[in-house]
Amino acid sequence: MLDLTPDRASLDPIETASRDEIAALQLSRMKWSLAHAYENVPHTRAAFDAKGVHPDDLRTLGDLAKFPFTTKDDLRHNYPFGMFAVPREKVVRLHGSSGTTGKPTVVGYTAGDIDIWSDLVARSIRASGGRPGDIVHVSYGYGLFTGGLGAHYGAERLGCTVVPVSGGMTERQVSLITDFKPQVIMVTPSYMLSILDEFRAEGIDPRESSLAVGIFGAEPWTNAMRSEIEQAFDMHAVDIYGLSEIMGPGVANECVETKDGLHIWEDHFYPEVIDPVTGEVLPDGEIGELVFTTLTKEALPMVRYRTRDLTRLLPGTARSMRRMEKITGRSDDMMILRGVNVFPTQIEEQILKCAGLAPHFQIELSRSGRMDDMTVHVECTIVAAGEEARAASGKELAHHIKSVVGVTARINVAEPGNVARSEGKAKRVVDNRPRS
Ligand code: DLL
Repeated sequence: MLDLTPDRASLDPIETASRDEIAALQLSRMKWSLAHAYENVPHTRAAFDAKGVHPDDLRTLGDLAKFPFTTKDDLRHNYPFGMFAVPREKVVRLHGSSGTTGKPTVVGYTAGDIDIWSDLVARSIRASGGRPGDIVHVSYGYGLFTGGLGAHYGAERLGCTVVPVSGGMTERQVSLITDFKPQVIMVTPSYMLSILDEFRAEGIDPRESSLAVGIFGAEPWTNAMRSEIEQAFDMHAVDIYGLSEIMGPGVANECVETKDGLHIWEDHFYPEVIDPVTGEVLPDGEIGELVFTTLTKEALPMVRYRTRDLTRLLPGTARSMRRMEKITGRSDDMMILRGVNVFPTQIEEQILKCAGLAPHFQIELSRSGRMDDMTVHVECTIVAAGEEARAASGKELAHHIKSVVGVTARINVAEPGNVARSEGKAKRVVDNRPRS
């Protein structure tokens, strides 16, 4: 694989500034952001007042712990524009998250917000190994989802040639990659696997493709998946994180030279990790729920937004800004089987250990009597592998899941192409348990 380490001189100075400089900038920006939210968002003012806190009470970064959290429900209750801190006419763009139940959440951006977002995605692409002049193939969905347009504006800002493909039509994805020869692809890791299948189905060697780096996010994926994709395409696979409520893609990104977790762009987003049950702030290094306070957002400032994503904060390495470990999962995705907590990423890791199995999978939860059961639907790599080979792979996977994750799973090894494919975020868990 090519050495794509960016030239230090091309980085934003704050990426390599001292911790003191970063903290000083964060404190002044946080004071502005809390005051901006308090003065302009009735919900925030009421929440601060109810807790007996005022923006002036923030004297140190640690004082943030006194302030109330914001949740997705707060956005839902103020649907559609109630959390905006600027008149609607100042909002130049809306995005939203589909949400599986009830109303979607709506987020808004001023021209200044879009400008900063573009800068941060440009920074993320550069950290991933992309450079001005590269061709960037964007397969994240364009629309209310922030992936497509977020990636698009960032790639343009960096000075790249953008191919705005969006998700779907996998054959066309492959022909555009073959014809335009992009260096960079931005796509969900699960959809990258579908693109990989299509390369193989067409008899094109993915290792011969022009792709040098993939910037993968919008869903959890493991280091085992990283190796799988890197080997298949002979390319770097780098992690990008973000969420619409805070901005979209580009809140944090891995650096291609270290691939050791995602540097949070702390000059614009202040991270905390909390105990999800007590709400108490945990020291760096401990796993809990990630919480963000925006420092520069005009249209939709967020104070202590609870992401439900589980990770831990680690010191900076390739950049001065702190890292978040690759996300294990969302608290919503956690399954509890006979008292054992299980995340889909743990199942992914075990599948990738089995040579006879492809990395497409879906987990089905069902109930027999009072017990919850888990069935892992997965595919064998070879067409018509035969009953015996499939049974052996299934047994191997069940064994790994039992011995490493600690739960008993039923395994259904299907023929290639039988597990539902995603064109965006994969749906890893299908819950068929009766609603109680
Ligand atoms: O998924 C923004 C995004 C687009 C990020 C493209 C990266 C690339 P939402 O649709 O609001 O926004 O979903 C946000 O997706 O809270 C996480 O649970 C999950 N997620 C996003 N990136 C990652 C990642 C976009 N790199 C939710 N690893 C977040 C694990 C991720 N989970």
